[in-house]
Amino acid sequence: MERELTPRSSISRRRFLGTAGVTTMVLASPPAFAEATAEPSSLPKENVRLSVNGRQHALDLDPRTTLLDTLREHLALTGTKKGCDQGQCGACTIIVNGQRINSCLTLAVMHDGDEITTIEGLVEDGDLHPMQAAFVRHDGLQCGYCTPGQICSAVALLAEHRAGWPSHVTADGATRPALSDAEIAERMSGNICRCSAYPNIVAAIRDVNEGGRG
Ligand code: FES
Ligand code: FES
Repeated sequence: MERELTPRSSISRRRFLGTAGVTTMVLASPPAFAEATAEPSSLPKENVRLSVNGRQHALDLDPRTTLLDTLREHLALTGTKKGCDQGQCGACTIIVNGQRINSCLTLAVMHDGDEITTIEGLVEDGDLHPMQAAFVRHDGLQCGYCTPGQICSAVALLAEHRAGWPSHVTADGATRPALSDAEIAERMSGNICRCSAYPNIVAAIRDVNEGGRG
């Protein structure tokens, strides 16, 4: 059965605008409960022990705190960068128990007792780590925002390669491949550089792999 439509002419322009205005105001206003839910409720703090760059830390943290925010906000180690905060860019890469991870994707409470190395911890006795020096030598950066993550990732990459880990482009997983530019690019694919310093980043990593004489 056909529904009877209200003739257009029966709604005056003035009445339509009045109704639309009220609707817009209602939609634009925050719901009455928004204020009450704006602040996340607090949770009991968790005690977390972290070893960061060889220093022991005991922290009382909201259990929802990411490892990235713990480093930056609680330990003032701001070398580790927050790019996307959702595991897409690699700017937050650090080394935990010898393996590289995205620190934005993990909670600090999951790392109680872990050994953590950040970009600040790669310097030894005031000397740049060979990978840091190679990035400088090869201009492996422009704005530098991705660089701490790139360098931590590259350091762990070399350890993974030495341990014989294959990558997605390794033809024969049974034998350790030479660290070709394609291998480096694939193994670094989790670290995005908006400045596109990729050729120089690859050159820096190749240089360190070959003994750092480049
Ligand atoms: Fe962690 Fe982008 S900030 S991956
Ligand atoms: Fe600018 Fe990589 S140097 S994002």
